[in-house]
Amino acid sequence: MKISEFKLERFFARYEFEAPYLMCCSDCESWTIQELLAFDSGNMERLINMGLGYTESRGNPALRQQIASLYRHIDAEQVLVFCGAEEAVFLYMQAVLSPGDHVIVQAPAYQSLLEIPAAMGCRVDKWEMKRLDGQWGIDLEELKDLLTEKTRAIIINTPHNPTGYLISEQEMQEIVKIAWERDIHLFVDEVYKYLEYDLHKQVPWGCDLYEKAVSLGVMSKSFGLAGLRIGWVATRDQDVYRTLAGLKDYTTICSSGPSELLSMMALENREQIINRNRKIIIENLKLLDEFFKQYDEIFSWYRPGAGPIAFPAFRGGLDAEIMGQDLLKHTGVLILPGRVYDYDHQHFRIGFGRKDFANCLSRFEQYVKERLL
Ligand SMILES: Cc1ncc(COP(=O)(O)O)c(C=O)c1O
Repeated sequence: MKISEFKLERFFARYEFEAPYLMCCSDCESWTIQELLAFDSGNMERLINMGLGYTESRGNPALRQQIASLYRHIDAEQVLVFCGAEEAVFLYMQAVLSPGDHVIVQAPAYQSLLEIPAAMGCRVDKWEMKRLDGQWGIDLEELKDLLTEKTRAIIINTPHNPTGYLISEQEMQEIVKIAWERDIHLFVDEVYKYLEYDLHKQVPWGCDLYEKAVSLGVMSKSFGLAGLRIGWVATRDQDVYRTLAGLKDYTTICSSGPSELLSMMALENREQIINRNRKIIIENLKLLDEFFKQYDEIFSWYRPGAGPIAFPAFRGGLDAEIMGQDLLKHTGVLILPGRVYDYDHQHFRIGFGRKDFANCLSRFEQYVKERLL
């Protein structure tokens, strides 16, 4: 399979470990192993006594049990653990799609959601997000218009990377109905779940709403544990599950045992972990609201509904890539230009899930005052 470069991952490969002030990351503030161990007095014992042999290919049963408890209609047999979310995305496309299939992907998108089907020889149509009155939105009529006889799958992401758009329960029910009426697969990338600013707006996982849906979850984003490389899918679709499990034998075979154990410790304390991360995000979002209100002649602000990222834009023809390079050079602050999403040249991604965000933003503000006012 010939596949194009993953622009976002190449961008991070170049800058993530060099730039001092990362203001565009999509994961939340992380935790140390010591902090995870400190959640329970027995944790240290569990970790140092565990063997380092192969683990169960589908994922540690106790971990799968814990993951299953996040859902309404999923049991441990319907959860499959992967190396991060990315392995699951890659294998889902192989499991469900064939060359010539038509696929609809919400866009802009985390590139693998679009690129892997395209590289496999599928016909990919982008279901473009809308910008309305300072908010992002989706158009369900447009989704219906994109459907063809050959549509095999609809791929969505909510809360969304990069806009932070949160599909409402009503919209989700409608998407499920569209897929169900045509017996189409639905892939719901939900890696930013639990980071809704208003918890009343939390939407059931896709796989709880539709038998042919696969929900994607991960420890990387809401939990801030990207280094564990533990992700999973949950689905009631037994055929897709079996095919995915078979494909995993050709990629990673099984997950890292210590990572599975540390994930279990995190999931056992998920309320505390998520609450801390939501608190950081909500505080940082207030700073962003104030910032964009103050500088609304320079930026267009589209307030996200969930998650640690937003996708604002420079006004007045300023190019986000050129501005980003200049910003990095003068302040050490890194923003992510929209071109890595093949989007326009004005938009850029901001990440605000980390504790040092206020510091990054004040450097950004200094730059704006000195160079853009
Ligand atoms: C929407 C989305 N899906 C999947 C992934 C991959 O996640 P992971 O790094 O845990 O494999 C990312 C990472 O940024 C993402 O934003």
